[in-house]
Amino acid sequence: MSKINKCLFPAAGYGTRFLPATKAIPKEMLPVLTKPLLQYGVEEAIEAGIHTIAIVTGRGKRAIEDHFDISYELENQIQGTAKEEYLAQIRDVINKCTFSYTRQIEMKGLGHAILTGETLIGQEPFAVVLADDLCDNERDGVLMQMTKLYEKYRCSIVAVEEVPKEETNKYGVIAGDFIEDNLVRVNNMVEKPDPKDAPSNLAIIGRYILTPDIFDILRLTKPGKGGEIQITDALLEQAKNGKVLAYKFEGKRFDCGSVDGFVEATNYFYKKSK
Ligand code: G1P
Repeated sequence: MSKINKCLFPAAGYGTRFLPATKAIPKEMLPVLTKPLLQYGVEEAIEAGIHTIAIVTGRGKRAIEDHFDISYELENQIQGTAKEEYLAQIRDVINKCTFSYTRQIEMKGLGHAILTGETLIGQEPFAVVLADDLCDNERDGVLMQMTKLYEKYRCSIVAVEEVPKEETNKYGVIAGDFIEDNLVRVNNMVEKPDPKDAPSNLAIIGRYILTPDIFDILRLTKPGKGGEIQITDALLEQAKNGKVLAYKFEGKRFDCGSVDGFVEATNYFYKKSK
């Protein structure tokens, strides 16, 4: 199968860096301007031609399901008024996609969250979006760039960007050989290495295309960095067979998992909206 039809959104994390805001609200629902982070991610998937949305949630995340659903009372109330247009974009998203959910019962890391999503994905290649990495590009979105690459190479692909060496301990970091200007065949990857141990300064950001054999690998993956099951470790197994590419994407990316990145994103999208 060459086309990517499904996108998985791991959204079970606690968002502790945004407490107290995230005490009762999922971090994926925090808005940049008037739109929740997760909706930006879903719109990026739609742009890439993906309409089957799979979300791994957890306790306290019901607001996510309500967001991607009709709110009869509210819609009835504003029907026929000028305010109706405020809901036009989310209604469009709801009309274009199907949404399915599964809960991660225990927080055992990103790899474990992705494995939890297997029941929604099945045996086909799929995209993964971490909604707190907010991406924007004037032309094709990051996921669209990656799905096009997938059609050519048919293997797992991670999006990477150069980060200052002292920040490698915040990311999965890759190394390998350039096969195109912006494309590396990965031969090593390490989760959150100390700068002195980092194999490069190319950091993975929250966009992945994964082939479905990743699920069997994840089942066998032992807890790694931080005692969690890491997607980076599972991908390293695929990389040993030359089956992982790292793509230096075109566009901007904001780390909305941090207050600084969130404020930067807000300012950027505010300026863009004027
Ligand atoms: C996760 C991954 C890491 C990746 C990052 C991108 O880390 O484990 O490899 O670089 O997402 O945002 P987290 O930010 O969840 O700690």
